[in-house]
Amino acid sequence: MSNRRPLIAGNWKMNKLSADGLALAAGVAGRRRAQPDLPCDVLVCPPFTLLSEVAKAVAGSGVMVGAQDCHAKVSGAHTGDIAAAMLKDAGCGAVIVGHSERRTDHGETDAMVKAKAEAALAAGLMAVVCVGETLAERDAGRTFEVNRSQVQGSLPDGANAANTVIAYEPVWAIGTGRVATPEQAQDVHALIRAELAARLGAAEAAKMRILYGGSMKPDNAKALLALPDVDGGLIGGAALKVEDFWAIAEACA
Ligand code: PGA
Repeated sequence: MSNRRPLIAGNWKMNKLSADGLALAAGVAGRRRAQPDLPCDVLVCPPFTLLSEVAKAVAGSGVMVGAQDCHAKVSGAHTGDIAAAMLKDAGCGAVIVGHSERRTDHGETDAMVKAKAEAALAAGLMAVVCVGETLAERDAGRTFEVNRSQVQGSLPDGANAANTVIAYEPVWAIGTGRVATPEQAQDVHALIRAELAARLGAAEAAKMRILYGGSMKPDNAKALLALPDVDGGLIGGAALKVEDFWAIAEACA
């Protein structure tokens, strides 16, 4: 175990209308209030439409709110996009950038992800920068190379352990129920930390949190969270139910 404080982050993706979403947020906030000493930070990332209301619902509970994407520019003619400062204004403290679903669905490159992460930092948000290999890349023996180059290309200038979190999400494990083995996860997390050390220095890399994401559930969370270089989780499906999400947070104890 490290002395890094784990981060348990829920990525709601494109789910939840207001009634359900606010109930979920209130449920998570209630659990956090009941267990303020649970040794982890908790972040929920609802869709854009619910950010303001969820931020109000969890205010004062210690639960942080994040968005799932932002634009790289500060403002301007970008119809349908959302600037990092708007997220901050809506009550966010963080934003996920470079999730594999955005890299795939929206053609986001490492350079775009880096620019978004830098916009997040400039707006005072914590950036959760996602990386991860596909099954084809893993089968081709390219796992380390792919993750190393995504970290190199996506890490924002100005990154430090306070303003940036990395999320390792093997694409083949996302939403599939097929979780990385502890050994697979630890190997890539250690590689990512080595890459962070090369870029930021060993001391900063030793403080930076690296989350695992991809079919993390109550029944596998404990084994993953116990790994030396796994500092929390980015949780999709299991973040949509208070009981499941909180059971994962409790696995940090
Ligand atoms: P999952 O999603 O937990 O449903 O696999 C994780 C993610 O994509 O962030």
